Amino acid sequence: MSAVVDPGLERTIAAETRLSDVQGQEGKLFLAGYPAEEIAPYATFEEMLHLLWFDRLPDRAELETFSKNLARRRELPDATIELMRSAASRQIQPMDALRMGLSSLDSSDRSVDEQALSVVAKTATIVATYHRLLNAQEPVPPNQEPGHVSALLMMLEGKTPTAERVRALETYLNTVSDHGLNASTFAGRVIIATHSDLISAVTGAVGALKGPLHGGAPGPALDMVFDIETADRAEPYLREKLDHGERLMGFGHRVYKVRDPRADILGEATRRLYRSGEGDEDLYNLAVEVEAVALRLLDEYKPGRNLQTNVEYYTALLLHCLGFPVSLFTPTFAVGRVGGWIAHCREQLETGRLIRPGATYTGQDDRTWIPLDQR
Ligand code: ACO
Repeated sequence: MSAVVDPGLERTIAAETRLSDVQGQEGKLFLAGYPAEEIAPYATFEEMLHLLWFDRLPDRAELETFSKNLARRRELPDATIELMRSAASRQIQPMDALRMGLSSLDSSDRSVDEQALSVVAKTATIVATYHRLLNAQEPVPPNQEPGHVSALLMMLEGKTPTAERVRALETYLNTVSDHGLNASTFAGRVIIATHSDLISAVTGAVGALKGPLHGGAPGPALDMVFDIETADRAEPYLREKLDHGERLMGFGHRVYKVRDPRADILGEATRRLYRSGEGDEDLYNLAVEVEAVALRLLDEYKPGRNLQTNVEYYTALLLHCLGFPVSLFTPTFAVGRVGGWIAHCREQLETGRLIRPGATYTGQDDRTWIPLDQR
């Protein structure tokens, strides 16, 4: 079989998936067959997990059992909490702490189903526990009563969240739960394809997500809106960036050449959250004006490039409106995406082969060994 070198694998189809269909030219995203905008703002995170893992929405009884099984796995082993304390005392950054926390979990003698529930439940607990420890606060022990997203907010903030806050975060987590064969998902599939375990696969995926080319843009997008301060400063500020050849954060996408559909879902969720009295509505209004100016200028400076708003722009606003600091942005992304990572791992185990692409050798082939004392 003849093969071509494809370094970023953009022209390579490495898997078949029923999980998400990313239609970059049309600006559409389907999650297990549902248009993302028709499911993400309405489903609970548990419903989304059930859909991704078992390919159908649960009925009421199934949802209750599934939610209980998830909730009772929230508690972290003592050793993991101690590790988090030690990491916080050294001010380790949150994505490193998440990687360390996940890799401290024990994968022995448990089924894939049990590991899947445990990893999703504990990812949220690790993120919240570490966030509090890093901010010199004692962790809030997980409560088994509420849903996953309420529990996450309670563990972060130590109080019962409003329904609006839960809905906004749930919409975000659902929206980012899966997105084709992105880098972290692929990393997870490569690991599980060796018939390793889910904890190892998710730990590897977290490592991939940590990279700034994958999970790290919402912070800079928010900084840009903060720097602009007032709508009248948007045009001179953005022109200066573009004149210096800089990129506007939160705009453009490798796959979407029209508006990223996730930007609309999160934009609407953010608008609803601000209107409910959360956060600073002036900031939201400023961000909308900045976005309009940015799109106009991108069209002027980069005609024909079709640079549109991407998911990161409204992610930044939504998480900021929830009161999350920038250091929590990428870990929170992981709390949502872990559902998709596991869904892909399950799919890989059911249908996949060991992933082992070839490489074209470009080194020398005419060398002879020279003993150390003759070099
Ligand atoms: N601002 C200004 N110009 C841009 C931007 C931008 N945000 N994005 C692309 N361009 C320009 C490039 O400079 C290039 O111009 P040129 O052809 O005149 O040199 C042209 O558009 C095409 O750029 P590419 O790099 O080929 O586009 P690519 O598809 O590889 O880039 C990327 C996608 C990396 C997301 C890019 O748009 C970017 O850097 N955006 C800003 C960072 C950002 O928001 N990242 C989050 C993406 S969403 C996610 O990862 C979940």
